[in-house]
Amino acid sequence: MPKMWKGRFKGSTHPLLEAFGQSVSFDRELGRQDVAGSIAHARMLAAVGLLGAGECRAILKGLAAISRDMERGKLVFDPANEDIHMSVEAELTARIGEPAKKLHTGRSRNDQTVTDLRLWARERQDAIRERLRRVMLSLLAVAEREKRLIIPGYTHLQRAQPVLLAQHLLAYVEMFARDRERLDDCRRRTNRLPLGAGALAGTTLPIDREMVRRELGFDALCENSMDAVSDRDFAVETLACLALIAVHVSRLAEDVILWTTSEWGLAKLDDAWSTGSSIMPQKRNPDLLELARGKTGRVIGALVALLTVLKGLPLTYNRDLQEDKEPIFDAVRTVDSTLECLAAFLPTLRFNPERAARLLDEGFLDATALAEYLVEKGLPFRAAHEVSGKLVRLAEDSGRKLREIGLREMVAACRLIKDDVFARLEPSGTPSNYVSAGNAGPASVNRALASWKKKLAK
Ligand code: ARG
Repeated sequence: MPKMWKGRFKGSTHPLLEAFGQSVSFDRELGRQDVAGSIAHARMLAAVGLLGAGECRAILKGLAAISRDMERGKLVFDPANEDIHMSVEAELTARIGEPAKKLHTGRSRNDQTVTDLRLWARERQDAIRERLRRVMLSLLAVAEREKRLIIPGYTHLQRAQPVLLAQHLLAYVEMFARDRERLDDCRRRTNRLPLGAGALAGTTLPIDREMVRRELGFDALCENSMDAVSDRDFAVETLACLALIAVHVSRLAEDVILWTTSEWGLAKLDDAWSTGSSIMPQKRNPDLLELARGKTGRVIGALVALLTVLKGLPLTYNRDLQEDKEPIFDAVRTVDSTLECLAAFLPTLRFNPERAARLLDEGFLDATALAEYLVEKGLPFRAAHEVSGKLVRLAEDSGRKLREIGLREMVAACRLIKDDVFARLEPSGTPSNYVSAGNAGPASVNRALASWKKKLAK
């Protein structure tokens, strides 16, 4: 079939270029958006008199039928049509004939393709936002269920201070909440209409961009025609949001992987969410978490890929921009399925309170509480730190816990110590003594839980 842009050509396209340049094998993902954009465009053309009422009716009917067939997977895409835009137009022409030839009036594939992508991106941003909400609800459910469980908190991956498990989980709720805010913010800049910019300069035809904007639910127009066809910032921002979401997921995955090792033994994977080894019968592998961690690479890669495509591109549209699609399609699909799995997986994680208690009792997690006790007794913090450190060494050298050091030895280290010190030397009791805003103890965590539950209720 001859190409739509055949006019100035004598020869035909080399089949290698045709195969190399086609995008319909992947931009068919934009089929629904492409039809929606064309419907709005056709209505506008009719409203300003560039299309007769009958022609418009034929176009709308044809597009609706194409949309239905596309949805059912009944449309066959011919790579000779290059992309989804020309595929839809060719299909329309085959179905309704003459009127279809007026549909491309006052528009270019340059403004059309990025309109489709913006429509697609805003929809996917909303979907990812909802997926994040589900993950947050799962985290809250586990935090609520394990409300009283105290675990060692870590810095430098060394046991540091006792914390409620719920605080650890709520830390991820905070991260995902910021991710949702970022998506919201990015959506505002995504939801602007490029259509009507034409190839790059606008058009001599009296089109009505405002009408198309309203029809398609965009908040505003892309104001500069040259920026409109070459801007992919919204896609970069979307990918940046996704990359950070993936990084957050990866960190959570790593935490859970550590918790479920036999070395840690803090949590156990449900059968439904672990896999066996083909050779080692005893294994329970955290494949979901490893894959979630691993897939972060391709999401970050997608962001870097698009930035690299844009770097050094002169205005306005260049065919390089066709390379915007596969990275964002892949990144959205990847993050979407990862979040879906994560939300289902989290509530199945089982914690082991006995093991948590054992981990808490080794490693002098009460040393900071002891130093703070000494501050309350009037010692400057640096001196208190020193005394507590000495007592830790004494306990360590003699194979004891801090609370097993007798009062006499304690007083020898610092005469401000009284026997009320022993109440502070119970790692499992420490969290309820935290008083600062946002602390990892029960009162603060309960407040945070209640507040998140309210914020996430729909
Ligand atoms: N398939 C192209 C893309 O995805 C559509 C725009 C092509 N425009 C052009 N003049 N060749 O970017």
